[in-house]
Amino acid sequence: MDAHKLGIERAVFIMLVAGIGFFLLAFIGLGLTPWFNINHELKGHKKTQHVPLLTPLQLKGRQIYIANGCYYCHSQFVRPVADDPLRFGAVSKAWEYKHQYPNLLSTRRKGPDLTRESLDHPADWEYVHLYDPRMIAPWSIMPAYHWMFDGSPGKPNKQGRALVAYLGTLGQARKREMLAKGTLKKVFVQGIGTVLHYPYKGGRLMSPGYDHVVYFHKAPRIADTRSARARGKHLYAMDCASCHGATGNGRGVAAQYLTPRPVRLNAFRFRASFVYKVLYYGRPGSAMPSWVRAADAFLTPRDLWSVAYYVQTLHRHATVPPTAHAPIAKTAALVKLGGAQFATNCATCHGPKGEGNGVLATALTPAPVDLAMMNPSARWVYHTINHGRTGTAMPSFSTLPRKVRWAISYFVETLAKKPKDIQSAAAAPGKTVRIARLTAAQSSAHN
Ligand code: HEC
Ligand code: HEC
Ligand code: HEC
Repeated sequence: MDAHKLGIERAVFIMLVAGIGFFLLAFIGLGLTPWFNINHELKGHKKTQHVPLLTPLQLKGRQIYIANGCYYCHSQFVRPVADDPLRFGAVSKAWEYKHQYPNLLSTRRKGPDLTRESLDHPADWEYVHLYDPRMIAPWSIMPAYHWMFDGSPGKPNKQGRALVAYLGTLGQARKREMLAKGTLKKVFVQGIGTVLHYPYKGGRLMSPGYDHVVYFHKAPRIADTRSARARGKHLYAMDCASCHGATGNGRGVAAQYLTPRPVRLNAFRFRASFVYKVLYYGRPGSAMPSWVRAADAFLTPRDLWSVAYYVQTLHRHATVPPTAHAPIAKTAALVKLGGAQFATNCATCHGPKGEGNGVLATALTPAPVDLAMMNPSARWVYHTINHGRTGTAMPSFSTLPRKVRWAISYFVETLAKKPKDIQSAAAAPGKTVRIARLTAAQSSAHN
């Protein structure tokens, strides 16, 4: 055997061994190890107790999700890379996927990740969005799924109900774990019922995994400039008008299918800091999302202030009925009279400073509004106290002399809170931030 031949044979042998060796190495490293690890994690992991077993309806919904190719555009895996937890919440863990065969991790993201969907939107929102995504997000490229409904978003058929039931399970495992750990709390919202909400700690919304929440509280307030409002106007048209209406009259295309209804924004001269707060936290239990957590339309602090400033301008579009058009002139004496009359007639419900915290407040559904934050115009107050609010505890005061009614209306204007920085407004550690809330009655405020 010559040396040359021997060399080739040895090389072939080495290549064969190396080939098999590397194959085995890859098989162990990329196949077996993760398999053992994940199995071990799932078996021994106490957290898997939080993973819900799907009901037959939810399972059917999962099949519809697969059949309609939702996973072509949506992933169900929050990746451990920089921007993912920022947009979608806590990074996915293996134990959360127990019982999921086949898994729907998916790789493409034409739309946002849906791993935490149930934390972001309630069922009424899902129905409208599924019926036609453009009814909520005018810029959306997601197809409309009309065939899951009998003609309108208010009438989902079996398919629609099953699919939305399934969407409601996304993120449940993590939710239950958070409830057990206390990082998520049950809160009671008047007129809505018990909902899950993130507690506050050190002034921060404890929104596990959503890193930007910390960043938000450090973000400075921007000034109310023309360009800020112009930006706000644009964002309002894109993100808010579908529910609250282009003029803020509460009659956007999606509005009639939502419970509670979107608020009539043009009736009040909201404090910018109040609007900021509402946008920041969202309205638990309603279709109003937290815009710092909205995966599809994430707003930055600058955006939030811009929209808030724009919302303040909407009240110019409010139509106040003619009864309120011949006011008695405002004088210091009249305002003083109004103060005394407010204390007698209104404070039991609205509180001495109009903050919605009178002694009767907690007993009422819907709750009295925070007049100091909503800052209604005197004309609007006059209109309201003339007519009261049908279907709520808010009575009519038409028996009071006209002068007294105007006196109270002027006084309510003086209750407006000085714009406070959102940091200080929300920052009391350990204290539940009371959120003043408007209800359906306003969105259809007629009389
Ligand atoms: C062509 C791609 C595409 C397909 C297919 C698709 N979506 Fe979407 N989806 C999107 C886009 C883009 C958005 C973000 C804009 C929006 O809110 O409509 C979105 C948003 C969503 C959201 C809101 C996410 C959030 O938290 O903001 C849900 C829920 C959703 N889709 C569910 C579904 C379901 C269920 C299906 C299947 C029946 C589906 N999508 C099919 C593209 C798609
Ligand atoms: C999907 C529908 C929807 C969209 C989109 C939406 N909202 Fe809302 N919004 C609601 C609903 C419903 C309520 C009432 C919540 C309640 O009754 O607790 C509400 C409440 C509010 C309130 C609270 C008023 C109060 O006193 O309680 C403000 C302010 C507000 N929205 C502003 C906005 C702005 C600004 C945007 C755009 C960035 C927006 N909303 C987008 C549905 C929506
Ligand atoms: C018995 C309790 C009660 C008393 C007394 C009361 N209110 Fe109210 N008020 C309410 C409730 C409850 C609401 C919220 C109604 C709703 O959610 O639609 C409300 C709403 C309002 C609103 C907002 C209405 C809107 O939709 O625009 C104004 C303004 C108002 N009250 C002013 C007053 C004034 C001024 C007085 C005293 C003259 C007064 N209220 C007395 C319970 C009360």
